[in-house]
Amino acid sequence: MRTYLVTGGAGFIGSNYIHYMFRKYDNEIRIINVDALTYAGNLENLADIENRDNYTFVKANICDREAIDKIFAENDIDRVVHFAAESHVDRSIVNPEIFVQTNVLGTATMLNAAKKAWELPDGTFKEGKKFLHVSTDEVYGSLPEDGGYFYETTPYAPHSPYSASKAGSDMLVRAYMDTYKFPANITNCSNNYGPYQFPEKLIPLTINNALAGKKLPIYGDGKNVRDWLYVDDHAKAIDMVQEKGKLFETYNVGGHNEKQNIEIVKTIIEVLREELSDDDPRKAHVTEDLITYVEDRKGHDRRYAIAPDKIKAEIGWEPETMFKEGIRKTIKWFFENEEWMKNVTSGDYQKYYEGMYSKKLS
Ligand code: NAD
Ligand code: TYD
Repeated sequence: MRTYLVTGGAGFIGSNYIHYMFRKYDNEIRIINVDALTYAGNLENLADIENRDNYTFVKANICDREAIDKIFAENDIDRVVHFAAESHVDRSIVNPEIFVQTNVLGTATMLNAAKKAWELPDGTFKEGKKFLHVSTDEVYGSLPEDGGYFYETTPYAPHSPYSASKAGSDMLVRAYMDTYKFPANITNCSNNYGPYQFPEKLIPLTINNALAGKKLPIYGDGKNVRDWLYVDDHAKAIDMVQEKGKLFETYNVGGHNEKQNIEIVKTIIEVLREELSDDDPRKAHVTEDLITYVEDRKGHDRRYAIAPDKIKAEIGWEPETMFKEGIRKTIKWFFENEEWMKNVTSGDYQKYYEGMYSKKLS
């Protein structure tokens, strides 16, 4: 049975990936999830699979070399899928150092531990072992409004502390592949949305605020463009890259689904109104009147857009979920999981929200 070590599996994409893998492979695989459970990590995301015999959770920091080495020593790991990271641009602007620690040093620890466990005396690696580093399109910087795409060959030009730290981690993975022929791949994916996304990111924040009748903060002129992908499509791409991709290659993942932020917020309001029943009191306040333009993010990248040509041509991956359908699925999930939202927005989240938005929205 193949054993996966997933890092950051209690976060948004990691937990969706674990669900996807158990739906697809059921008892054919074993997953060990290592996560430090920062503010973004939530075991509630995995409540329905936590008792599976082929699933194990280990609470550890990826910078903790001893803890990570121990996992490799005690388990014959076949695949690493490395999600764990600090992932929010706004937080990186306020506190960049933790991004360098987790994203750069944590990735170095993971690479080193896997190399130690998998390397043979002659410097080659045990057959079939693979490391997949999950990264972002933000490493490529910002595109002009009127054209161009990010290709795998686009030079790195990160602007935020988040994207700079992810670029650093990607460079380390490239260096391991070039120097040691370390068996790895990198995926650079566009913005994800879907179930279990923490409401500090645009889409879940908008859904949560709209339902509560709170203002919907839009940075700057609202015309910044992101290329949105439903999270299950990302999970599928990661699995397909490990199964069908060529080792040492980078694959861009995205679905040609470019939208301005203002369009996103208006679509969410429209779909919320369609899904709320007429006698639901929230329907009265879920309107575009909640939209509030606020001070822009510092260094705000104007446009991201992925060219997914390589992953389509070489691997046959294409996104399956159309944007409006994905937004509807996401909204329905949030309706069905109000308790989840209540739990993640209690306590520390309130402090974060006040710190980030009270001045902007006053
Ligand atoms: P997230 O913030 O929701 O989850 C991150 C997870 O990592 C959390 O469970 C957290 O507890 C864990 N973690 C953080 N620091 C850790 C540490 N030092 N040790 C162990 N665990 C730690 O992030 P996400 O949105 O699920 O993103 C996952 C990965 O995908 C990241 O590497 C991110 O850069 C990348 N990515 C995200 C997007 C997106 O739109 N969210 C798009 C492309 C790529
Ligand atoms: P976000 O979800 O934080 O993802 P990223 O910064 O990684 O792309 O933001 C998506 C876009 O939405 C980005 O252009 C910033 C913008 N945004 C707002 O306008 N208001 C908000 O409250 C947030 C969180 C983001």
